[in-house]
Amino acid sequence: MLHPTLVELQARLHRTLPMGRIEVVKLPGLPRLELGLINADFPTGPLPGEIMHAVIAEPAYWAFCWGSGLAVAQWLDARPEAVSGKAVADLGAGSGVVAIAAKRAGASRVIACDNDADALYASRVNAALNGVDIEFCADVSDLPSDLDVLFMADVLYDRSNFALIERAKPLAERLVIADSRVTSVEDPAFRTTHRADALTYPNLGEFDEFRHVQFFEFNRATQNI
Ligand SMILES: C[S@@+](CC[C@H](N)C(=O)[O-])C[C@H]1O[C@@H](n2cnc3c(N)ncnc32)[C@H](O)[C@@H]1O
Repeated sequence: MLHPTLVELQARLHRTLPMGRIEVVKLPGLPRLELGLINADFPTGPLPGEIMHAVIAEPAYWAFCWGSGLAVAQWLDARPEAVSGKAVADLGAGSGVVAIAAKRAGASRVIACDNDADALYASRVNAALNGVDIEFCADVSDLPSDLDVLFMADVLYDRSNFALIERAKPLAERLVIADSRVTSVEDPAFRTTHRADALTYPNLGEFDEFRHVQFFEFNRATQNI
């Protein structure tokens, strides 16, 4: 029996994928972190045209834990000192996986930011599932400018989202972009600091080439600015 908030999350999924279900699952390598995500046995074949159009118009990205979000959550689980006692934001939060992992790792303040209202609702539901308190906002301009660490995980799938990098850079001491879709963030101030293998969960047929996640990092302390 699903909690009423998960029933509401499923109703939001049904707006585009009426045959999908929300299941509460543990993530690979993170047995203490649970998320409400689309059912792993969702059929991977072609979708009927009408549904395909709805999915393209309003993709429920929040119903998946993307490979880069998973890689960041695993990285934080192994290195809580990266955020412990710090103010953190998760820009393009989706399910809220990075925000939740950061709070679990001991961050003093965590803000999940997403311009999709359903993603913010999913982040809220998932934070409650994991017993953590996080804050929410819908636009990068609503984030505070005194953050210690700002994460962007799998947000650069859309070329226009590169503009978010310049918006995010002045807000934090450390900006960590984790991405499996791009090989460069096209800004010489960033260095590749970590590589990991992780696929989107549940995996509904994601190409293997997207399993390689890179962490591109801008660190104000090493920039002399
Ligand atoms: C592919 S999902 C990744 C979600 C999550 N970070 C993860 O790794 O599972 C990208 C998310 O970025 C959000 N997004 C895209 N453009 C955005 C913007 N300009 N501001 C805030 N969020 C944005 C989308 O709504 C979506 O939830």
